[in-house]
Amino acid sequence: MISSSPLPLIKGLKPLSIGNVYIGFPAIQAPLSGYSDRPQRHVTQNLHESVADFPEYSALPSQWKTSIIGAAATVAEVMLDQFVLTVKKSVKVNQRMGLEPSDHPCGAQIMGAFPEDFPPAAMRLVKSGFDWIDLNFACPVKKVLGRKRGGFLLSEPETALEMTARTRDALPDGVPLTIKLRKGYDDSAQSEDNFYKLLNGAIAIGVDAVAIHGRTVLQRYTGEADWSFLKRVKSEFPSLVILGCGDLFSAQTCLDRILETGVDGVCIARGAIGNPWIFPAFNALAMGLPALPPPSLEEQAAVLAEHFNRCVDLYGERRTCSIIRKFGIKHALTHPRKDELVARFVTVRNREEWFSILKEFYEKQGAE
Ligand SMILES: Cc1cc2nc3c(=O)[nH]c(=O)nc-3n(C[C@H](O)[C@H](O)[C@H](O)COP(=O)(O)O)c2cc1C
Repeated sequence: MISSSPLPLIKGLKPLSIGNVYIGFPAIQAPLSGYSDRPQRHVTQNLHESVADFPEYSALPSQWKTSIIGAAATVAEVMLDQFVLTVKKSVKVNQRMGLEPSDHPCGAQIMGAFPEDFPPAAMRLVKSGFDWIDLNFACPVKKVLGRKRGGFLLSEPETALEMTARTRDALPDGVPLTIKLRKGYDDSAQSEDNFYKLLNGAIAIGVDAVAIHGRTVLQRYTGEADWSFLKRVKSEFPSLVILGCGDLFSAQTCLDRILETGVDGVCIARGAIGNPWIFPAFNALAMGLPALPPPSLEEQAAVLAEHFNRCVDLYGERRTCSIIRKFGIKHALTHPRKDELVARFVTVRNREEWFSILKEFYEKQGAE
């Protein structure tokens, strides 16, 4: 939503746009396979209004009260181009590609091995309503690399550029195209050359933003993300919109990384699983407001209830239980009775059990 008055951010931050898609707060939710599905994205973008009910916020104009309460934008979990091209069952299409009006802005990410499959897949996702298309040249999963997809393409920049160019040509004007990279395939000089070949080529093709995770593909998730690399790339390409990723587990870290490196925004990934409140916390810091208090147990329960109900609507009760356990476990990590709660979420089998856990652990007398 573009407001008539500019988003009042602190010095050093500016409102984020990807192409002509206005996002606002410069922290978005990264694509997360197995996690950033429709229900998760919806609750993350539309957190309970009570987040903005604290006295500190009473002075805020109402337009910012509603935009502060969740992730400014999200990216759906990666989809294989072949899946996008062949899926027919309306239930599956709805699960993976459906969007509600309050789910925007939302990007769709494609991964594949053959350049010719990217344009039709991208177009199907645009027709489904996604606001921009992101191409995955970063995934480090072994099976993905073996099939010459994802992070493998960092070692074949010509192929990655063909995918990018064909997709850009196919997309209507005004639909942004972004790419997701890691800092290289490995730590070799050849890998760095490939990174720059791919980056320069993508800029020449006209990508609207580049998300970079400051680890190599071979590093997977070991070691620390190299934010000095992000700083260097941003200084070399000041007019390119760059989104930094890696080890963003608190709102303050997100803010620090943007201010230290000059990147245009960040993509929060693991730090958002079980803690969607990282977004309003960041948004408050970005406006220079007092730190947001952590969500009350009641508010956490409301989000967990809504997440469950939305999963049931989309997947049915049985599948929901296997999907939602991992979210419950992550939410439990900040609970005062963490170990007991994790043990309960691990075995949840139906709606009744889910809601009895919420009652027992999140209602005042049970938890405080
Ligand atoms: C469970 C999981 C699933 C992920 N799925 C995707 C994905 O679908 N597409 C993608 O580009 N990156 C994916 N990533 C990578 C994240 O988007 C992000 O770049 C990476 O986790 C670094 O950020 P973090 O250290 O803050 O988690 C995934 C990461 C995790 C942990």
